[in-house]
Amino acid sequence: MCLPPGEAKVTVIKVGLIGAGWMGRAHAAAFEGVTRIFGTGPATLKIVAVADVSEEAAKDFAQRFGVGSFTTSWRDIINDPDIDVVDITTPNDVHSEIALAAIAAGKHVYCEKPMANTAREARAMHEAARDAGVVTLVGFNYLCSPIQAYARQLIETGELGEIFHFRGTFDNDYMVEESFPFTWRTDAQAAGRAGALGDMASHVLSLAHYLVGEVTEVCGARQILHARRRDAKGNERTVENDDLAHFLCRFRNGASGYLEASRIGTGRKLYLSYEIQGTKGALLFDQERMNELNLYRVSDKPAERGYKRILAAPQHPDYAAFFGLQGNPLGYNDLKIIEARRLIEAVASGKPWVADFEFGYVVDRVVEAVLVSAEEHRWVTTEEIAR
Ligand SMILES: NC(=O)c1ccc[n+]([C@@H]2O[C@H](COP(=O)([O-])OP(=O)(O)OC[C@H]3O[C@@H](n4cnc5c(N)ncnc54)[C@H](O)[C@@H]3O)[C@@H](O)[C@H]2O)c1
Repeated sequence: MCLPPGEAKVTVIKVGLIGAGWMGRAHAAAFEGVTRIFGTGPATLKIVAVADVSEEAAKDFAQRFGVGSFTTSWRDIINDPDIDVVDITTPNDVHSEIALAAIAAGKHVYCEKPMANTAREARAMHEAARDAGVVTLVGFNYLCSPIQAYARQLIETGELGEIFHFRGTFDNDYMVEESFPFTWRTDAQAAGRAGALGDMASHVLSLAHYLVGEVTEVCGARQILHARRRDAKGNERTVENDDLAHFLCRFRNGASGYLEASRIGTGRKLYLSYEIQGTKGALLFDQERMNELNLYRVSDKPAERGYKRILAAPQHPDYAAFFGLQGNPLGYNDLKIIEARRLIEAVASGKPWVADFEFGYVVDRVVEAVLVSAEEHRWVTTEEIAR
């Protein structure tokens, strides 16, 4: 049976993707998956061109995802009048240059985190997008989990009472061994001066901002475990950013916090976790068990108090698109599918979702405040940063 001509019409948002590595592939897979999970309305995403400095990577990507055009110059993507959204999945150092060029060309921008290597660059990106009226989205995919949306609902409806403390961690041990190579992530030029701090604490901060509110003051410290590593050519290089960072913080609403991030967190793999304490209840979450949220209620009978384990369910936002029954597990790539859904909704409506460039700038400002605090051994307010 054929669809009548009118019904076959689908609005297609045309994407130019820059950076054909891990995240480039994750975005492309999500653009394919979002239509299968959420359907074709209000629009679909199609990558029409891909750019990577490596021609081999760009060509392989184009073949794998059926993309009609590939190039080694990201400027070709910006100059293509057919492209609606520029998707930036390169290492961090070129995010701001590409985003500013895309905004100047009137494109919407989807950019991986951290949004930029400095808060000043992030602010310029946010202000340019705001002034141009384009839609932006930053790849803080962990916010897209149905469990996090439900956690936010619990907080907004007062189930936890007044939130007074947030403790968050992101530990992974992929760099604990000295033999792990020097890559762009250990290079301050490519990844920024904030290592685990920019790469991983930014995710914890995104959750803190989403669930509790804006961090306004920090006191932090950083550590490098292996000062030298060999690059792919066997040359010994100096590691230029932190393996581990941790900081005390205060939120605008008066809550206190403690956050840490480590790429040398021995024994941990994707330990992106938090504990949120309020006057009426508390939440516990661990990304290694991403389909579970633990809720404690002070109002429970004294003899029955304890954390209750809630499994992801169709009553949690976005979950029902995947499964009709509670307890079926979503995975990392499903979060990217939900993020792609947020991108479609934002472009179609002209209204950004939570994690827009302003949000990314607010996160980057905290990251930089921790850098200054660690260097100067003092509490630093975000007001002092990138003014
Ligand atoms: N949201 C997440 O969970 C998550 C996870 C991993 C990485 N990231 C972020 O995604 C971005 C990319 O990380 P990745 O792990 O995919 O890196 P990657 O090294 O796997 O891929 C990066 C790609 O960009 C290409 N590239 C480098 N400079 C370029 C340029 N100037 N123009 C075009 N292409 C260029 C490289 O050749 C490579 O193919 C980073 O900002 C990183 O922080 C986010």
